[in-house]
Amino acid sequence: MMTLAKQLRCIFTAMMLVLPVLISGADDVRRTDFPDTFVFGSGSSAYQWFAWRKVEGAAFEDGRTASIWDTFAHAGEYGGATADVSCDAYHKYKEDVKLMADTGLEGYRVSISWSRLIPNGRGPVNPKGLQYYNNLINEIVSHGIQPHVTLCHSDLPQALEDKYGGWMSREIIDDFTAYADVCFKEFGDRVLHWTTLNEANVFALGGYDNGMTPPNHCSPPFGVRPCSMGNSSTEPYIAGHNLLLAHSAVVRLYRRKYKSTQHGSVGLNLFAFWSLPYTNQTADIIAAQRANDFYLGWFANPLIFGDYPDIMKKNAGSRLPKFTRQESKKVKGAIDFIALNHYMTVRVKDSSSSLENDIRDFSADAAFQFILTQGATPSGLAEYPRTEPGLQGVLEYFKQAYGNPPMYIHENGQMTPRNATLNDTTRVEYLQAYIGNLLDAVRNGSNVKGYFTWSFLDCFELLDAYGSGFGLYYVDLDDKELRRYPKLSAHWYSNFLKGKGSKHSAVYKIEDNKVLHSSQ
Ligand code: NOJ
Repeated sequence: MMTLAKQLRCIFTAMMLVLPVLISGADDVRRTDFPDTFVFGSGSSAYQWFAWRKVEGAAFEDGRTASIWDTFAHAGEYGGATADVSCDAYHKYKEDVKLMADTGLEGYRVSISWSRLIPNGRGPVNPKGLQYYNNLINEIVSHGIQPHVTLCHSDLPQALEDKYGGWMSREIIDDFTAYADVCFKEFGDRVLHWTTLNEANVFALGGYDNGMTPPNHCSPPFGVRPCSMGNSSTEPYIAGHNLLLAHSAVVRLYRRKYKSTQHGSVGLNLFAFWSLPYTNQTADIIAAQRANDFYLGWFANPLIFGDYPDIMKKNAGSRLPKFTRQESKKVKGAIDFIALNHYMTVRVKDSSSSLENDIRDFSADAAFQFILTQGATPSGLAEYPRTEPGLQGVLEYFKQAYGNPPMYIHENGQMTPRNATLNDTTRVEYLQAYIGNLLDAVRNGSNVKGYFTWSFLDCFELLDAYGSGFGLYYVDLDDKELRRYPKLSAHWYSNFLKGKGSKHSAVYKIEDNKVLHSSQ
């Protein structure tokens, strides 16, 4: 386990490496600057992308049952908006895969809907669900694109939530493993990159601490919206523990049964800010390390070292579940890569006084405040700032603190209002800066192996349904055909992927859906 001095050295070294990039900005970056084996792609998730009903209000199509996101949206959490139809990627997958290939994507990140493949979460496989995913994966592979598949992008089958409380119960471990077994057996001949869970850390916090996301558990005074049940002091930690046990059971299954013939790898995805101290005072510097321990170490420490970070054990005490010796052995090393969703850099301010509270949740135990920087709003990262790319910082941190494991950047992109212009120059600048920053990380020896923009299309956004989008392509929801339109960022990314430099690309614009160069 790392000493405090070593941890602080890590954070400082990482900061020092990031600083020159902040000052110099990104130079012209080319695809060829990265290794050939590096993969550049874009991504989506099942709930956000695929229509589940042919006609709104009709029964779920082709045997799918509800996930906890369906329940959440249908309870009116987005003012009536749902992903029932969304971008209709369920029916338009061929067109979309062609668009991916035309864009030049080398990889595509997709998630499987558990409740489509195995309705109700356990029991027999749904033949239509199986057929759909076989078709989708075949289409992706036949276009020369690598599928990177997530097993659960937060969309747990509602039936398992109802049956035993979903991630609150250890029963989930067997069901998740059985579901993963079906996926490995059916798709593992074509899928080499598997991720068990999307944003395990944020899922546990949103679902069980502040109640912002399904299954919408929380307890006063910690919820950001009314919750009908929950205990914010204990449940986030229990969910986190069960997520880790289920993840490691799936990794062990893959290694035992599939690895020798399929040769793939299985990782876990975490949400990662890059956290810099708010001031150079010691309390803030230590708080920035605490932020890394609580948000990243919560999952990374058990997977790499076999136990939670000391500071979590100290501050959460008996509310943090303990690994038995056997569990710790099973969890330690159960990871082939760590994937990060990274959007922005934040400042971290010490707030140790929260440790004096009688009732505490995760945030009070972590005892710091995130101070959002330029362009961000306190409510929910409404506009991701496009300066201060922190990819190098966070990758360097994993290199120093966790022995440089293989890493993927699964999500990175800019949120803009949904019906804004196709001339998304701010997104182009954002991607250009972050990809430049990524190159610096690669040159400094980070073991990062791939980068995926979030997202390919503007579909249903978890933060605000159809209010905003991260897509390279705009989808016209008022058009019956749900036509897709490239934004400037799609052209820019495509140019980059096809070997043209990145710098010049921001000088053109889109008019009447045509790209005009600055000379025109
Ligand atoms: C992370 C989630 O994985 C993704 O589903 C979501 O759309 C983005 N963040 C943006 O909020």
